[in-house]
Amino acid sequence: MTSRVIINISELTTNDAALGDGSPMGRLFNAAMVIDEHHVLWVGANADAPSADERIDARDSAVIPGFVDSHTHLVFAGERSDEFEARMAGEPYDGGGIARTVAATRAASNEDLRTTTQRRVEALRAGGVTTVEIKSGYELTVEGEARLVEVASEWSDEVTFLGAHVVPAEFTNDRDAYVELVGGAMLAACAPKSRWADVFCDVGAFSVDEARSILLRARDAGLGLRVHGNQLGDTGGVALAVELGAASVDHCSHVKDADVEALAASSTVATLLPGAEFSTKSPYPSARRLLDAGVTVALATDCNPGTSYVTNMGVVIALAVREMGMSVDEAIWAATLGGALALERDDIGHLSPGARAHVVILDAPRSAHVAYRVGSALVRQILHD
Ligand code: NIG
Ligand code: FE
Repeated sequence: MTSRVIINISELTTNDAALGDGSPMGRLFNAAMVIDEHHVLWVGANADAPSADERIDARDSAVIPGFVDSHTHLVFAGERSDEFEARMAGEPYDGGGIARTVAATRAASNEDLRTTTQRRVEALRAGGVTTVEIKSGYELTVEGEARLVEVASEWSDEVTFLGAHVVPAEFTNDRDAYVELVGGAMLAACAPKSRWADVFCDVGAFSVDEARSILLRARDAGLGLRVHGNQLGDTGGVALAVELGAASVDHCSHVKDADVEALAASSTVATLLPGAEFSTKSPYPSARRLLDAGVTVALATDCNPGTSYVTNMGVVIALAVREMGMSVDEAIWAATLGGALALERDDIGHLSPGARAHVVILDAPRSAHVAYRVGSALVRQILHD
């Protein structure tokens, strides 16, 4: 197996507190690391760098673990920029536009869905994302959702079944039948290609009881659980996620003290999606409040055509720093190791020896430039198996 040594790293962020400066970022300065095709083999001082088959000179460059984007809806057709414009002019977001993307996606060919999904994965990758979770949720039929998880699985092992995104128009007068369909035939068709199940538990989507019934059946089918919770109101999604031991509850835009305390006492990660607040012109939740209470926080793009058509994790990090009370280090940690924890992965999001060799070399001497130079293309090279 070919080994590569990366030398002259100005600032190496390992996210391993046992390495480097003892901070959660596990920082080393003037450092080097050795990887093979799949794993990190060694991390240390540049002066101690061993020789290897290949050498990469990272002079004047910071190195970070690849970003882990733990929440996206990448498989869709069409676009809804008119809704974005209306919201910037003061229209509220209520989830109603999801039906437009459902109509466009149902009408799209497999070829179209594959091509557009690939482009979005490539856009995320260009910004340093090396792992991406992808949800279904824009067809809402048995065959359609099975098609979406199939397409998603071509780009990721972290595929999430989101048949419970909203109740589609044809079931408006029989919600119970749709909940039964999602937890029955749709789940059965999607489970083989999915690792996770998610429910949009919120105003205008699914109630706590509906969400619980679907998630329990998904758990019985062997899937891990995630929840879209408390985006549009104080709707009980966070409490449900904690009750069920979900890996992550995402959005958390409206949380009360009891939710924060429950999260802090649990292993459920709170995944914040500032692209959604940006694109819906909604108030940003305070990441500071969650962090100070001891909650584990992740950051993700939520890339979707309605509320966050964002493919740049650097912008997400910058928004979290500027608007949610995170330090730059906390935000980068949340977009790397935080995302890994939200996906219950211990092999990514950090660069300890033994971790996956998902390495991003930045065209910047310090990782803080990711937020400081918001929107800039700062990825010099990505090493990824
Ligand atoms: O995460 N909240 C639910 N789902 C998406 C929005 C979907 C849409 O509007 O198309 C979200 O924000
Ligand atoms: Fe989402």
